[in-house]
Amino acid sequence: MKIFIDTADVKEIREAHEMGVIDGVTTNPSLMAKTGRKHREVIEEIVSIVDGPISVEAVSLEAKGMMKEAHEFSGWHKNIVVKLPMTSEGLKATKLCAQEGIPTNVTLVFSVNQALLAAKAGASYASPFVGRLDDISETGMNLISEIRQVYDNYGFKTQILTASIRHPIHVKEAALIGSDVATVPFNVIQQLTRHPLTDIGIQRFLEDWKKVPK
Ligand code: E4P
Repeated sequence: MKIFIDTADVKEIREAHEMGVIDGVTTNPSLMAKTGRKHREVIEEIVSIVDGPISVEAVSLEAKGMMKEAHEFSGWHKNIVVKLPMTSEGLKATKLCAQEGIPTNVTLVFSVNQALLAAKAGASYASPFVGRLDDISETGMNLISEIRQVYDNYGFKTQILTASIRHPIHVKEAALIGSDVATVPFNVIQQLTRHPLTDIGIQRFLEDWKKVPK
C-alpha cells in the first residue's frame, strides 16, 4: 500500500520524507489555510521535496472552472494530481482531464455508487473519507471493503485512496482490505512508528551495553 501524507505543512512533509515512507502528498483548502502561505508557493516547495503524486484541490463548482484550475495546476509540475469534488460537475471535469491525460483524485467520496461513478469517469484516484463517516456513526472502513470489491469485480484501474484517516487502526485496516493508497496525517505517521516493546527493548539493550567490557 502506498502512503501519502495528508498535510500542506512542508516541515512535516520533509520529516516524513526523510523517514523514507512517503510516496505522495494530498492537500486540500483547509490544510492549505493552516499554513498561512501562498498556494502555489507551498505546492512548488512540496514538489521539490517529494517525487510522487501531489494532489492539489480545485475549488470551482462548475466543470469549466475546474478545467481552468486543472490546466493551471498541471502546468506547475508533472507530478500534480488535480483533486476534483464528487459532483456531477466534478465528474464532467474528471472525464475531460482523463481525455487530456491529466491525473485526477475525486474527493469527498462517501458511497460505493459515488466511487463507481468516479471510476467510470476515468478518475486516477477516488478518495473515500473514512473518519468523517465514523463521525456520523457509520463504519468508514466498510466503505473501503465495498469499493475494493466493486473495483475488483469489474477491473477498474482507479486507485482507492483511503482518506480522512484519524488513527493507526484505519491504516492497518486499509492495508488489510487492499486499499491502493492511504493518505495519513503526520501525527498518525508518528504513531505508526511506535511500540512500547520497542522502547523497552532499546532501554534494555542500552543498559546491558554498559556492562560490556570496552
Ligand atoms: C483527503 O485527501 C483529505 O485531505 C483528508 O483526508 C480529509 O481528512 P479530514 O476528514 O481529517 O479533514
